[in-house]
Parts: sequence; C-alpha cells; structure tokens
Amino acid sequence: MSSFSRPIANFLAPNLEKDDTLLALKVIFQPWIWKEGKFIYEFEKIFNDYFQFVDAISFNSGRAALFAILNSLSIKKNDEILIQAFTCNSLVNPILWQQTKPVFVDIVGVNNNGFLDLNLDPIDLEKKITKNSKAVIVQHTFSQPADIEKIQEICKKYNLFLIEDCAHSLGVKYKGKLLGTFGDASFFSFGRDKIISSTFGGMAGSSNSLLASKIRKFQKDLNYPSYFWIFQQLFHPIIFSLILPTYNSGFGKFLLYFFQKIKLLSKGTSYEEKQGRKPNFFPKRFPNALTILAKNQFLKLEKFNRRRQENTKFYFENLPDNFILPTERGDIQFLKMFPILVENQKEILSESKKYGIIFDDQWYQSPIMPPGTDLSKMQYRMGSCRKAEEVASKIINLPTNPAVSKNDLDRVLNFIIKYAKPIES
Ligand SMILES: Cc1ncc(COP(=O)(O)O)c(C=O)c1O
Repeated sequence: MSSFSRPIANFLAPNLEKDDTLLALKVIFQPWIWKEGKFIYEFEKIFNDYFQFVDAISFNSGRAALFAILNSLSIKKNDEILIQAFTCNSLVNPILWQQTKPVFVDIVGVNNNGFLDLNLDPIDLEKKITKNSKAVIVQHTFSQPADIEKIQEICKKYNLFLIEDCAHSLGVKYKGKLLGTFGDASFFSFGRDKIISSTFGGMAGSSNSLLASKIRKFQKDLNYPSYFWIFQQLFHPIIFSLILPTYNSGFGKFLLYFFQKIKLLSKGTSYEEKQGRKPNFFPKRFPNALTILAKNQFLKLEKFNRRRQENTKFYFENLPDNFILPTERGDIQFLKMFPILVENQKEILSESKKYGIIFDDQWYQSPIMPPGTDLSKMQYRMGSCRKAEEVASKIINLPTNPAVSKNDLDRVLNFIIKYAKPIES
C-alpha cells in the first residue's frame, strides 16, 4: 500500500474529483455570489426536469428538506411518524424538532429467501400503526429499493402520508420508475458521502400541488446560512484534495482532525444532533455557492452510478457463497455500500485499517447512526426493533463508490475472505 494512495472508504469525500475541487476554488473567492443567485433556480429546474415533480425545492441538507415536508403536512403535536430503525439521527431529528413522535419499525433483516434486506418491514409497519399515525417515511437504505408498492398500499389503507427518503438512492429505479416518485413527497441529500455531494445540501420534491406549494412557501421564509457556514462547506472539497492522498500516511488524518477541531471543516452530524437538539444552521435555504457544486456533481450522476453498478456486480460475483447477500429484489441497479453480516465486526473494523481500508462509516453498532447518538433522546427503546439492532452489531459495508478502483475491490475482497467470519444463516 503506497502512503499516497487514497484510502478505501465509504466516507471521506467518495465523489470528489479534480473538477469539483477547482470549481470550489473558483467559487470560494467570489463571496458576493455565495447566497442568493440564479444557480439555485437553475439547479432546481434541472433536478425537477429529471423527476418531473410539480416542484423541486432546495434546502441546505436532506434533514432540512424533511423538516420542510413535515412542516407542510397538517401534523399536530404528538402525531406519530413511522420510521425504520437502522437509520440516521438526521432523519429522526426533524420529527423531534416538529414535536411529533417517531415510532420505530423494524427492518426485514434476513428475508424468507435468505437475502439481507435493510429496509422497513411492511408486516411490522402495519402492527405499529395507531390512531395517531400520520405519515410513514420510507428509507431506501444503501440504494436498495424498499418494498414500496406494499408500503404504498398500507399508507392508502390507513390514510397515511408517504414520504420517501432518497438520501441513498438518487437515480435508482424500481420497476422502471424513479424512487422518489412513489410517495406524496420525497427528499434527497447532497451530503459529503451521498450519491452526489456538495458537502451539505438537499432537495424536497412533490407531485402534489398543494403540498409542493406549502414546501416552497416554507423555503421562501427561510434565511440563507451564514457566510462562515458556506465557507466551511466550500473549503471541504478544497482541503480534501490534500487530505485524501496523505490520509494513509497519517498526515491527512491529522489535517482532517485539525480543521474539524478549529471548525474550518464542518462535521456531517453535530454533537447537538446526537442529543436530539436542533443546531441553528438547519433548516436554511440552499445557498447559490453550493448549488454550483451540486449541479456539477448532478451532471456526473449517470457516470457515478454506472461505477457503483460495476462495483456492486463485482461483490455479487466474487463474494463466497457462505456470505448472506443483499436481496436482488426488483430491478436493483446498485448499492451505495454493499452490506455483509459478520460475527467479528469489531475485529474487522480495526484490522482493516492496517490495510488502508476504512469500514468505519458510522453505519454499525447502533440502530440509530452514528454511534454515540443518544437513543433515549431519539425516543428509541432498546429491544423494540431486534433485527435492526442485530444487523447493526454484525454489519460491515463494502465500498462501491466511484473512487474505488479495480485494485481496491480486489484488496477489499481478499481482506474479507481472509478475516471475515460470515454469520451462520
Ligand atoms: C438515510 C438518510 N436519510 C437522511 C439523511 C439526511 O441527509 P443530510 O445529511 O443531507 O441531512 C441521511 C444522511 O445524513 C441519511 O443517511
């Protein structure tokens, strides 16, 4: 392993390319275009042309977009929002900020066909519906389509709003139809390790005219984030062009730690959010500066997803039979990360670092990511979603992102074959 090779990881700016860094460098010296500007509307239009919603409305993160959607539904205090466990706190928090109640639904886990399914279990969903239930959020985990038709049916039966969380699934189709177009509303993330990245950013989309207009009104009433916050996000692709090639030698890792410590770099999730509190920089409008980066990435969406598809195929073809594979339900195209279950998660997480492979992507250990999230503040009761908890304690996610080379795939595979102890099915 050369110390100048990029680390193999699911996080650490996996979508960053040279042109993204150059663009950020150009924009960072033009603070007068950072906040309001024409690129916001241009990006919203390109995005909406792709999905054909009534409207696509941009925000400064996926969680802000979800907050806007929840705010635009006629939801009262103490209404219940159903959401799967094995999720991220940035999905739970907007529910709490709204003073509504998250109700956790278990995931399918290992399904009847012996495949691993990290999505919401429709059977458990139906059991958890009460007279206070108002909406279901469906997370298409790691780009794997949830059982969306069945969930649509359930929402119809109980008169619930259906919101799709497409943070992991931009550009994925289910039976030929784009994910995000099945629900009453959907939201997307352009976070640093998502399908496309502008460090932070998000979009809400809806084909329901009334709902779309309420979300748009909510957005118009928001402010832009501060100049400092925008600077932090623009600085990310710039400094990462230095962090990535030097990460394995230790210097890049130090730079990351240092710039986060002095707050010139933001973190994907703040300490307050792990405690269920709302930081003052959410929700805000998507600033012009970041839409410029997001548009550049959006134009590479097909290329990125093709790479993910090839990498996903590699694991499907080469992982030995004793691993439980993710289900191939529907026309699954790719996985944002390729999950496997192992008996020795802790050992894999630490041993892999010696080989320049970093599995520490925060999607492990806890049913609500990242580890360290205060579960009681999230209103999650341990033992309430056993499959999600079990999966969290055994999961390792193999990288499929566009930065992963053929050589990297071989290294990951060889490492897994050598060290991983697959769970008994
Ligand atoms: C499944 C899922 N949903 C929603 C979000 C929120 O997106 P964002 O980071 O843009 O707020 C994330 C990521 O943080 C996520 O992983």
